[in-house]
Amino acid sequence: MTARLGPIGVFDSGVGGLTVLREIRRELPAEDLLYIADSGHAPYGDKPAHQVEARAIAIGERLRNEGAKAVVVACNTATAIAAQSLRARLDIPVIAMEPAIKPAAEQTRSGVVGVLATSGTLVSDRFLQLVGRFRERVEVLVRPCPGLVEQVEAGQLDSDATRALLADYVLPLLARGADTLVLGCTHYPHLAPLIRELAGPDVIITDSGAAVARQVRRRLTETGLLNPRQDPGAERIWTSAAPAAQTVQLIRQLWHASVRVDCFPHNS
Ligand code: SIN
Repeated sequence: MTARLGPIGVFDSGVGGLTVLREIRRELPAEDLLYIADSGHAPYGDKPAHQVEARAIAIGERLRNEGAKAVVVACNTATAIAAQSLRARLDIPVIAMEPAIKPAAEQTRSGVVGVLATSGTLVSDRFLQLVGRFRERVEVLVRPCPGLVEQVEAGQLDSDATRALLADYVLPLLARGADTLVLGCTHYPHLAPLIRELAGPDVIITDSGAAVARQVRRRLTETGLLNPRQDPGAERIWTSAAPAAQTVQLIRQLWHASVRVDCFPHNS
């Protein structure tokens, strides 16, 4: 496979990055997509940085070895910890996440923005620098959300336990005046209907999936790697989940019932 015709490689600690993959598919219908759900190692959010970095590098290199022409880090935690090392190691474009604080700062009417993310993202220098750029204009409240990634990975997208966790995380932000919520983990858009239910119709809920997909298009255009083909691209999904049956079923529920899902060893 030549680099020009290779797929766009996308990865996350699990099924969260499918929310980004969906936006990439919308933006770039002709591209082939290869997605790795590292569910065997989820969640990344409360793991030591060196472990997250090692997983991100192993998966980035794997995607490159499979002929990926670009890698999208569809995980905010892996971005915060490993985007720089990936860019230094891979000789292909690496596109990463950025929590949607800029659009939130532009849209808020109350001047208070709430950010839901993992602890790994919220304590990272990258995130603190991002918030620093907007601190003069808006108040940014942050809320780590332990347990939410696990709920999504378990397919608990609409359960009472997930609702209760979300209520603990979202309602205090609203009580402190947040009228705009940034979903700073790619798993959380899967819970957007529940978040909307809790927050009501007037709160703005935003994430960066569509912006990242536009950035992928820009980078492929700049580097001459955009697929000139007109017919629709294909998707392949791999997972390191073990056992895999429940994750495979969840991936099919979230993506497409007939998508091909392959498993790879949890320890590779
Ligand atoms: C996680 O694996 O803990 C979260 C992934 C993310 O931050 O997007």
